[in-house]
Amino acid sequence: MKRIYLSPPHLDGREKELMIEAYESNWITTLGPQVDAFEEEICAMTKIGHAAALSSGTAALHLALLMLGLGVGDEVICSDLTFAASANAITYVGSSPVFIDSDFATWNMAQGLLDEELRHCEKKGRLPKAVVIVDLYGQCADYKPLLEICANYGLPVIEDAAEALGASYKGEAAGKFGVMGIYSFNGNKIITTSGGGMLVSDNPDYVRRAKFLSTQARDPAPHYQHSHIGYNYRLSNLLAAVGRGQLARLEAKIARRKQIKSFYKNALGGIPGIEFMPDAGYGEPNHWLTVILIMSELFGVDRETVRLALEAENIEARPVWKPMHMQPVFRTCRKRGGEVAEEIFRNGLCLPSGSNLSMDDLDRIVSIIKRTGKR
Ligand SMILES: Cc1ncc(COP(=O)(O)O)c(C=O)c1O
Repeated sequence: MKRIYLSPPHLDGREKELMIEAYESNWITTLGPQVDAFEEEICAMTKIGHAAALSSGTAALHLALLMLGLGVGDEVICSDLTFAASANAITYVGSSPVFIDSDFATWNMAQGLLDEELRHCEKKGRLPKAVVIVDLYGQCADYKPLLEICANYGLPVIEDAAEALGASYKGEAAGKFGVMGIYSFNGNKIITTSGGGMLVSDNPDYVRRAKFLSTQARDPAPHYQHSHIGYNYRLSNLLAAVGRGQLARLEAKIARRKQIKSFYKNALGGIPGIEFMPDAGYGEPNHWLTVILIMSELFGVDRETVRLALEAENIEARPVWKPMHMQPVFRTCRKRGGEVAEEIFRNGLCLPSGSNLSMDDLDRIVSIIKRTGKR
């Protein structure tokens, strides 16, 4: 039986044509018209002023943190329930993450806990220097209260919208809410360039600087002079061509993933012990992944039993991200809360959600889940 993947690439647009165009133009390195056009198209779609195409979302986070001047000994607040890259980047600049638990209503950073943590830091006389807020599984965090709290303490926010391209919050695009936002075009994301990312900001200085730092920080001199440490983080023109083909199909991909989520909701929603990641209602998610909670007391078996039953039929489903405070590598980091993320991790399962899933695939997945529960 053919394997069904969690969220595989789906090349259904002009990717090949644009890539051949890039190839034939001989612009196959990290500069070129496809890179420029990809950045412009992202800006036009998100209505964010400026963008720098980079080799990964992690590179974008790293540069964003560098540009905020973070360094050794600084603390940076970070969502607890996320992929490790959000927190890893904080350590690249020598800083330490402090993890804030999720809110059950959104699965994103809990405003009450952020407030508590910052009050506590203020009392100690040592505030963190920045906040990384993640838009989990394609749903924006609740930015209005979160940004107000950060503003009260003068803290800049980086929006980790790696998973949320195309989502919105109160009518504005994911990626727009911090001083900088980042996207990922990694192979499992809603659109992909094989690997790639983007840093976006309404502040042109950040994007100008990101382009400078990501191309080895060359001073304007013919003789390779460097006054700053640089990085080799720019996106290839070939891959930007793939990204443009993908981006033109983003709306269709979001619509398809939304249909897939509705299909799962119709098929599984009424079953005792199955709950869906809540749609927060303050915006439109991009429906990147459909995520369910399996409450074993009601469903009869636990999350892992369901995952293994799917795996036995060559279907890839994945547990929800393991919270950062539970990761061995971050065990010494401070955290506030953690129980919500732990519970979501314990019971949460990401279902195959790729925009190229067929109805037969979906029927197969749902029938295995139902069958497993009845055992
Ligand atoms: C929340 C989050 N942040 C950051 C990243 C890193 O992006 P990339 O894989 O493009 O480096 C990812 C995904 O990979 C992610 O899911």
